[in-house]
Amino acid sequence: MEAQKFIDEKINEIKETVRDGKAISALSGGVDSSACTVLAHRAIGDNLKVVFIEDGLMRENEAQDVVKIFSDLGIEVRVVDAQKDFFSALKGITDPEEKRKAFRSQFYEVFKEEVLKSQATFLVQGTIAADVVETRGGVKTQHNILEQIGIDSQKGYGFRVVEPLKELYKHQVREVAGELGLPPKIYQRMPFPGPGLAARVVGEVTPEKVSMVRKATRIVEEELDSLKPFQAFAVLLNDRGTGLEERKRKFGNILVVRSVESKDAMTAEPTQVPWEILTKISQRITREIPDVVRVAYEITPKPPATIEYI
Ligand code: XMP
Repeated sequence: MEAQKFIDEKINEIKETVRDGKAISALSGGVDSSACTVLAHRAIGDNLKVVFIEDGLMRENEAQDVVKIFSDLGIEVRVVDAQKDFFSALKGITDPEEKRKAFRSQFYEVFKEEVLKSQATFLVQGTIAADVVETRGGVKTQHNILEQIGIDSQKGYGFRVVEPLKELYKHQVREVAGELGLPPKIYQRMPFPGPGLAARVVGEVTPEKVSMVRKATRIVEEELDSLKPFQAFAVLLNDRGTGLEERKRKFGNILVVRSVESKDAMTAEPTQVPWEILTKISQRITREIPDVVRVAYEITPKPPATIEYI
């Protein structure tokens, strides 16, 4: 794939499809949705409305960072605060696939309202080849595959779908994103699941648990930055363990650190993290998040495990 040629072709395709209609893009700040948003904006300018749905399940400062990066590129992003709705949709749910379903329905609920407000008839989505392969193969239902949620692209909510990155794999999307002028912070960004940090809380998802995972994720990302892993994050388990505080027993949470190397996320190997770095991560997590008393490092490849926990 030649990135510039791909970009020119896709811009033309989007122009021809959307013509003088309006389109909407749900931007998450990940490399896929960022690249397809910039492509569509280049094609149709301000006829593209961009929304960022704040679901309360993002990493630290994600909304502010994304709005700033896109504003520097001349693209206005509307932030929709739906945190409360997402937490109530996830309340009481412990089954991984049920969590995905609840997240997905809530996402489309919020998004549908934005679509209606924007009067858009086209929906720009950053679906990439791996999403299509894994969903068709029954590995899991990705929230961005419309067929899975029964939206008829002709009737449904009354809009058509534009998926310019559908035939690309992650490394190719990164190349395109760099060529589109997106900063390294975006095109080198680790993949992040649609259901966000909800994918990294085992058991019921609550704001308190998400907040713990969010803090731990920042620590893991900071400490592993020099190794540039394909993906690294923290997962909160659904059980508690015994710890010690001033020689007294206390019961606290258990966090798993996961870091993997992969080309396209279809298979993955655990990162061989030097012991000193793991020690530092464990010390920082237990010091900076006092509710955590144990930290484990995961050594399972994909397969048999998947990268995320849901
Ligand atoms: P798994 O957990 O299946 O994940 O090994 C493979 C890759 O996909 C990411 N992932 C998602 N990406 N929407 C996405 O856009 C999703 O719902 C989703 N779930 C998982 C995951 O982080 C990994 O890189």
